[in-house]
Amino acid sequence: MLRAISLAEAFKYTAKPNPVVGALLVSETGIISEGSHERFGENHAEINAINNARKLLGKSFNSFEDLTLVCTLEPCSHFGKTGPCAEAIAQIGIKKVIIGALDPNPLVAGKGIDLLIKNDVKVEVGLCQELVKEQNKFFFFKHEKMKPYIAVKIASSLDGKSHNKDGSSTWITCPESRDDVQNVRALYDAILTGGNTVIDDNPRMNARVNFEVNQPKKILLSKKNNFDMESNFFKNAEVTIIKETNIAKVINSIYELDHCSVLVEAGPRLVNAFLKTGLVDELIEYKSSEPLGKNGINWFSKNTTIENLGFKLESTCKIKSDVKNIYKKC
Ligand SMILES: NC(=O)c1ccc[n+]([C@@H]2O[C@H](COP(=O)([O-])OP(=O)(O)OC[C@H]3O[C@@H](n4cnc5c(N)ncnc54)[C@H](OP(=O)(O)O)[C@@H]3O)[C@@H](O)[C@H]2O)c1
Repeated sequence: MLRAISLAEAFKYTAKPNPVVGALLVSETGIISEGSHERFGENHAEINAINNARKLLGKSFNSFEDLTLVCTLEPCSHFGKTGPCAEAIAQIGIKKVIIGALDPNPLVAGKGIDLLIKNDVKVEVGLCQELVKEQNKFFFFKHEKMKPYIAVKIASSLDGKSHNKDGSSTWITCPESRDDVQNVRALYDAILTGGNTVIDDNPRMNARVNFEVNQPKKILLSKKNNFDMESNFFKNAEVTIIKETNIAKVINSIYELDHCSVLVEAGPRLVNAFLKTGLVDELIEYKSSEPLGKNGINWFSKNTTIENLGFKLESTCKIKSDVKNIYKKC
C-alpha cells in the first residue's frame, strides 16, 4: 500500500480535481504491475495496473485469479469519464482487492465494494487509510464537509498594508516569495479574485511552474460587465464570473462547480468579506521586511489581528527577506 501511495503522489498536480490514486497487482512472489491515475479525464489507476499486467500474462503470471489488487482508494462503480473500475476488476477475474480508503463521496461510498463483493471478490478496507486521506486532503474535505477547502493568500508589508492608496503599482514581497506563490497555486483547483484586482493589477493568476499541472480554473467575483476579455486574467484557463456578493452563497456555487479547493487572492475588501464568514480554512501570509508607509491601505481594521479572526499560526518560514506564515482555522 505504501508503494501504491507513493506512485499516486507523482500525479498530485495533474489528477486534480480528482483524487490521486495508485494501484498494484501482486502475486505470491511480488509486484506484477503498477498503475496510477495520471491525469484528470484519463484512465483510473486500477485500469492502468490491469493493462500493464495484460502484457505479462503467461510470462510473469498465468491467471488474473492468482493476483491481488492493492489500490489506495475504493474502485469506482459509476460511469464517469471512464467505465466502472469495480466491474473491470471483477470481469478480468481478480479474486482479492485490498483498499486503502473508502471513496468519501456519499453518492459513491461503498458502492464499488458492494459491486466487487456481489461478484465474489474478497475485499479488505482500511490499510493506511489515514495516509490516503492526508494525500487527498482537499478531496476528502470537500465530500466530508460539503464545502470546498478555502485558503486565502495575502502579501503584506511590514506595517500590515496591502497596496498603495494612489493606485501606484508596487511589489510587496520579494521575487522568491512570488515564485513560492506559483507552487501554492499549482495545488489548488481554482483561484478566486475580485473585479477591482483584475482591473487594477491585470494579474495572470495562473500557476507558472516548471512541471506539468492541470491549471487551476479562475473565478471572478464581480457585478461589472465591462472587463477587457483580452486582459491577462482571461487567458490560460477557464474563467467563471460570479455576480453574487453573499460570500456563503458564492462558496456554495464553488462547491457546485465541483472544485475541492479554492485559493482566494484578492484585495482587503474581498479578503475581509471571506474572513467574516468564518468559512475560511487557511490563511497564507507572505510578510515583507519593508513598510509601505502612509500611502498604504491596511489589510485589517485597527485592533484586528489574524489571531482574533479565529486563526492560529501553524508554521512559519523565511523566504529570502520575507516571512511566510501559515495560519489554520482554530
Ligand atoms: N497585497 C496583495 O496580496 C493583494 C492581492 C490582490 C489585490 N491587491 C490589491 O487590492 C486592490 C483591490 O482591493 P479590493 O479588495 O478593493 O478589490 P478586489 O480584490 O477586487 O475585491 C473587491 C471586489 O470584489 C467584488 N465583491 C463581490 N462580493 C464582495 C463582497 N461581499 N465584499 C467585497 N467585495 C465583493 C466586488 O467586485 P465589483 O465591484 O467588480 O462588483 C468588489 O469590488 C488592488 O488595487 C490590488 O492591488 C493586493
